[in-house]
Parts: sequence; C-alpha cells; structure tokens
Amino acid sequence: MDLEMEINLQLNNFKNNLSNKTTFHSIITFFMEEIKNLLSINDCYMVQFHKVQKIYCIEKFISKDSLTNLYTLSQNEMVPGNCIEFNNCINFILGNKKELTFILCCEINNEINSYQRLLLNMYGSFINYKIEQMFLSLCLIDELKIYNPEKDYPSWITQFLLHLAEKERNSLAQELHDTILQEQIYLNHKIEHILSKNRDKMLVDDLAEVKELIRDNIYYLRDMCNEIRYPFLIQESIHQAIGGMFQCTELRSNIKVQYRGTDLTCELSEELKINIYRIIQELLNNAIKHSDATMVNIELFDENQKLFLNYSDNGKGMDMVEISKDTRSMGIFGIRARIKSMDGSIKFETSPGNGLKVFGIIPI
Ligand SMILES: Nc1ncnc2c1ncn2[C@@H]1O[C@H](COP(=O)(O)OP(=O)(O)OP(=O)(O)O)[C@@H](O)[C@H]1O
Ligand SMILES: [Mg+2]
Repeated sequence: MDLEMEINLQLNNFKNNLSNKTTFHSIITFFMEEIKNLLSINDCYMVQFHKVQKIYCIEKFISKDSLTNLYTLSQNEMVPGNCIEFNNCINFILGNKKELTFILCCEINNEINSYQRLLLNMYGSFINYKIEQMFLSLCLIDELKIYNPEKDYPSWITQFLLHLAEKERNSLAQELHDTILQEQIYLNHKIEHILSKNRDKMLVDDLAEVKELIRDNIYYLRDMCNEIRYPFLIQESIHQAIGGMFQCTELRSNIKVQYRGTDLTCELSEELKINIYRIIQELLNNAIKHSDATMVNIELFDENQKLFLNYSDNGKGMDMVEISKDTRSMGIFGIRARIKSMDGSIKFETSPGNGLKVFGIIPI
C-alpha cells in the first residue's frame, strides 16, 4: 500500500472510532491509546494548567524533564490544536474549558519520523475539534442551569436544541437505513434463494413464515426512517412535503385529511419549514393514536408576514388541564416549544367529546 493510502486509511479509522466517543474521558483514553501505538511509547499523561493561578495540576508522577518542558510552554503556545515538540517531549494542547487548559504530554524515546509527525498533527486537529465542541456544549449546559426551569428558556436556546435534535434524528435514520434495514433486505433475498432451491414442504412453509416477518420489518423500518429523516428534498415546497404525510395518514388510519394550503407569498426559512412539518406530523400522529376521528382539516396560509396553521379534527377531544399535568407526554410540549422558538403563539381548543382545534400563528 502506498504511503498516501495508508495515511488516509489511518485517518479514516481514527475519525470513525473517535465519532463514537461521547464523553471527555472516553475521548482522552482513546486518544492516549492511539498516540501510544503511533509513537511506540508506554505512557502519556494529562495535565491541566490553570491560566489565572498559573499552576499545573498533574495526575501522576512525571519526569523532571517533562515538568521543565511544561514550564517552558508560553501562553502564546497554549492554543488548542497546537502540538509542541521539545526535548523528547510532545505536548498536545487539547482544549480550554473556562480557566483550564488541558494538555496531553508524551515522552518519546526516539526521533519521530515525518509519517508519525503528519499523523500526530492530523489526530491533534481532530481531537481538538471534538473536544472544543464538547466543551462548548458543556458550557451551554452550565448556562442553561442558570435559567429557572419553571420559567422559559430564551428562544435561541430552544432553536439550538431543536436543531441538534433534528441532526440526531437524521443520523439515526441514516444509521437504521444503512444497517438494520439493509440486513433485513439481505435476509429476505437469502430466504428467497433458499426457497427457490428447496422442495421440502415443512421447511418451505416455515421459511415462508419467517420471510413474511422479515418483510413486515422492512416495511416498518422504511416507515420509521421516513418518519424521522429530514423531510425536505431540495427545492421541495412545504405543501409538497406535507402532502406525503397526508397520504401516509390516510393509509395508516380511517382518517380523511382535508388540506387547504394557499401559495405562500413569502419564502420560508429551512428552520420554519422543518418546525411546521414536525408540528403537523405530531398533530397527525396524535390524531391516529388518540382521537378516533374520521376527519382532519388542516390549513396553511400566510398574511401580513405571518404564517397561519390551523388544525381541527372531529374526534373525541380531551381535557387540556388533565393533559398538561401528564409529564410523560412529549408531543404537545414539543409543539409548544417549536412555536415558542419561532416567537409564535398557539391555542388549543378542546373538551371531551368535542374534537380538537389548534390555531398557530408564526411571524415570518
Ligand atoms: N387529537 C387528539 N384527540 C384526542 N386526544 C388527544 C389528541 N391529541 C392528543 N391527545 C391527548 O393528549 C395527550 C398528550 O398528547 P402528546 O402528543 O403530548 O402525548 P402522546 O401522544 O401521548 O405521547 P408522545 O407524543 O410523547 O408520543 C395524549 O396522550 C392524548 O390523551
Ligand atoms: Mg403525541
């Protein structure tokens, strides 16, 4: 294998393994192992430097040389992502969290070659990026704790969290699609192949049953992927995207969906589109799960820089006061959070036996 290919392979492995690590501890342990392997050394250690008090906190005994080296590091060099090589020591500046700088120190026995140096620098950049991201979210969580959970978070925080959740949904959909779904499709083919070659009646019957179950799984997984993946194709309008949902609702239930969507006079942002999509998705899922309705009406139109979303069903309705006491239900809570993140307003009108009406107004 030529050198370029080998480096690419190493980097890909490194990136893939790193992407599974979700805690600071697991990232650092993984990084240490990789560095030890790459440099053929037995040990390396983490040091924390307190920028204000100018002291080092060292987790275990280190040699005098390493200590001297640490003290020669200048503030200018302590930039996250830097890899400083000095006197048989390599110091990686991993990241900053408030007053602390995290440094990984390695004592090396031999000169490092250009291949090792290149990989060290690349590994260092990946690690630094990952750690900085993690510290950013930890700081954000600290910030969130300042807010009283009884009160509302500022809308930018809700927007940010919804954005993260959307990304997570998407990667989950991709993961399901690429792994379990593909495996089920493969199993289905394999069984078809066995069936085509076998005449044993009992075996054929048993396998046909298993095949049916696998086909159910395939349909179920496809449905699930479609439900959670990012719903818009490039250039697709909101009306087209939600149209698909109405068909699915009618297929999955006895509900007839009537939709009145006028051409919008304003361009909607991606964020607004996705929020509207997810809100309608939840309302329809609720209609299927809870309402016993036979008819759902949805309207979507804009007027004077405002988007209006109206929903109604002819189902059994509910007691809104009771519902708001139930902390396990996330759907209506999520709808309210989405509306709030867009500085909009929403009203639920319902009572037992009288269906549900929802009126949402969102500034564009
Ligand atoms: N269209 C509806 N008709 C009648 N009852 C409804 C309707 N929509 C919601 N509900 C009632 O409101 C409750 C709360 O709905 P919500 O969407 O918050 O939670 P959920 O659907 O039970 O669970 P989740 O959405 O978290 O999976 C439901 O459990 C149901 O009792
Ligand atoms: Mg729900």
